[in-house]
Amino acid sequence: MAERINFSATINGQKVGPMNLPQDLMMIELLQEYLNLTGTRLSCGQGVCSACRIIVDDPVRGSYTVPACVTGIAWLNGKSVRTIEGIAEQDDQGSPLPSAIQKAFLEHFSFQCSYCTPGFVNAATVLVEQLEGSPIPADKVEDAVLEALDAHICRCTGYVRYYQAVRDVILKTPGLTTENPAATERAS
Ligand code: FES
Ligand code: FES
Repeated sequence: MAERINFSATINGQKVGPMNLPQDLMMIELLQEYLNLTGTRLSCGQGVCSACRIIVDDPVRGSYTVPACVTGIAWLNGKSVRTIEGIAEQDDQGSPLPSAIQKAFLEHFSFQCSYCTPGFVNAATVLVEQLEGSPIPADKVEDAVLEALDAHICRCTGYVRYYQAVRDVILKTPGLTTENPAATERAS
């Protein structure tokens, strides 16, 4: 019988646990079977396609994604995690508003069946957040997008529109490239 652990984490800003769970439980099972967070998609189940990637927010290393299908809860114990359910922003009334990346995917018709989309959203969100702290020249954006999304497989082959959408967000959002500084820098 699998050993059990007391699991606690912050998921989408909410404290979860302590929960007594099998130590070998994968994160995707916790999300879908125990927490009813079903937006994270299980596809290959082998850490290959990136459909299931979720964000880990690490105060030292920064944010990065991991495949929830092969990442055990023991490894995520005590960590802060975001899933696709935690990406949308909120309007003044507290209703969900798609993030800039989510809006761009809609506007560009980036996805077809959408099975891979949560993983793409999470990877692109991490890239945008990294650029907020460390903008890059516009001529490096293409490579940065390719690198950030490289591990993500879309079986409907919508790659070009995904990449275009992320590139557009980066080039149009002040503060993400050195040629388009944030508004406060512009004023100074
Ligand atoms: S479902 Fe996790 S990487 Fe494919
Ligand atoms: S939109 Fe169908 S797998 Fe990507």
